[in-house]
Amino acid sequence: LFAGETDFLKGVVAMNGLPDADRAEVCFAGRSNVGKSSLINALTGRKALARASNTPGRTQEINFFTVGPDHYLVDLPGYGYANAPVAVVEKWQKLLKQYLSGRASLRRAFMLIDSRHGVKPVDEEIMKLLDTSAVTFQVVMTKADKVKEKDREPMLKQVRTALARHPAAYPEIILTSSEKGWGIGTLRSVI
Ligand code: GTP
Ligand code: MG
Repeated sequence: LFAGETDFLKGVVAMNGLPDADRAEVCFAGRSNVGKSSLINALTGRKALARASNTPGRTQEINFFTVGPDHYLVDLPGYGYANAPVAVVEKWQKLLKQYLSGRASLRRAFMLIDSRHGVKPVDEEIMKLLDTSAVTFQVVMTKADKVKEKDREPMLKQVRTALARHPAAYPEIILTSSEKGWGIGTLRSVI
């Protein structure tokens, strides 16, 4: 899959701007700053394909990346970020929810969870939406390099407990660090 050319296709700000649902796609969802854009860069081996930044709320559109002729990777705006104007946040959130619940070609959503913070109430809200829409989701733990080895297992346990409540959850959790390249090969083969 990733041997094919990867390219930025377009940023979408409204449902009517989505490309035709004629290619299989996976998306990356998660709280603001969790590392969605960095993960896409690590997966594709392109340093600045998706714009990553230290400023939460960096990605404000649904960004489509082509992978070869038949697939898309989709970078979503983060949720749970309170520091932008309310009207703006509401607009992204609405778009995010419409996309997650109504995209025919979406094969799997990757739910990114920060290895330091675990599953938060805002994550639960999105997971419930995915349950309702019957979109299979799989958790990817990010920034594993920021957590001591002894703290990883308790964190995974918290996440597993949370996932048990969600029928749409795929049980296997992938631990990653975009910084160190950990788990990137595994995630690539899952995709
Ligand atoms: P929004 O677009 O604002 O929702 O953020 P995002 O989820 O796309 O996060 P982004 O990839 O922009 O990363 C946010 C910050 O976390 C950046 O400063 C990254 O360098 C940092 N970061 C991302 N992944 C890792 C990682 O694996 N390890 C470490 N140490 N830092 C990371
Ligand atoms: Mg981003």
